[in-house]
Amino acid sequence: MAPVIRKFNWRRDKEAVLQFQYEIYERNFPGLCVDKRFLSDYARQLQQATRNAAQRLWVLDESGRTCGFLWAALITTMIDECVGYIKNIYVAPEWREQGYGQQLIATAEQWFGSEGVKKAALDASVGNEAAQALYERMGYRVTRLRMEKSLTNIGRREPDNARGD
Ligand SMILES: CC(C)(COP(=O)(O)OP(=O)(O)OC[C@H]1O[C@@H](n2cnc3c(N)ncnc32)[C@H](O)[C@@H]1OP(=O)(O)O)[C@@H](O)C(=O)NCCC(=O)NCCS
Repeated sequence: MAPVIRKFNWRRDKEAVLQFQYEIYERNFPGLCVDKRFLSDYARQLQQATRNAAQRLWVLDESGRTCGFLWAALITTMIDECVGYIKNIYVAPEWREQGYGQQLIATAEQWFGSEGVKKAALDASVGNEAAQALYERMGYRVTRLRMEKSLTNIGRREPDNARGD
């Protein structure tokens, strides 16, 4: 049966949502290894979110099997008093490219709208074309670029003149 969207339930959905994090994080942050410690930190934040009125979680439910997830939050930035931020989205492989990602985002946007929020935002990894296609389809546009540089080749030795003598 086709999945339906319902609210996240900690006891029913926690294990499935934790399993989704392997693909979400390892795909979007190459080199990152999702391990027990990562999952326990994530689980703690997830549980806190269920008690926080500024955060909402939904799942895709296929006859009792959790097969998708979205985590949204109302956040404040230096620029915007309140932004609807989509932290995490996942659709199980067998249900991809059938519009469920769009349905999950539309659900979060309805909540943002009901809270009077005027802007929604999210982050996308450069290599994640499926996520970018979904976000563009939903009307999101690139407004800033995050630039990073690896510093692993820089030694820990003090620079020659660091002591100023
Ligand atoms: C990103 C993700 C949530 C998309 O979910 P989805 O249910 O497949 O998305 P939809 O079916 O609603 O697709 C939305 C649009 O994106 C396009 N799209 C989806 N996957 C695509 C892909 N792999 N390549 C190109 N376009 C793609 C769809 O064609 C659709 O556009 P259209 O309506 O013009 O055809 C899903 O691929 C996923 O869970 N990926 C792993 C987790 C992840 O990386 N999450 C994002 C970071 S948190």
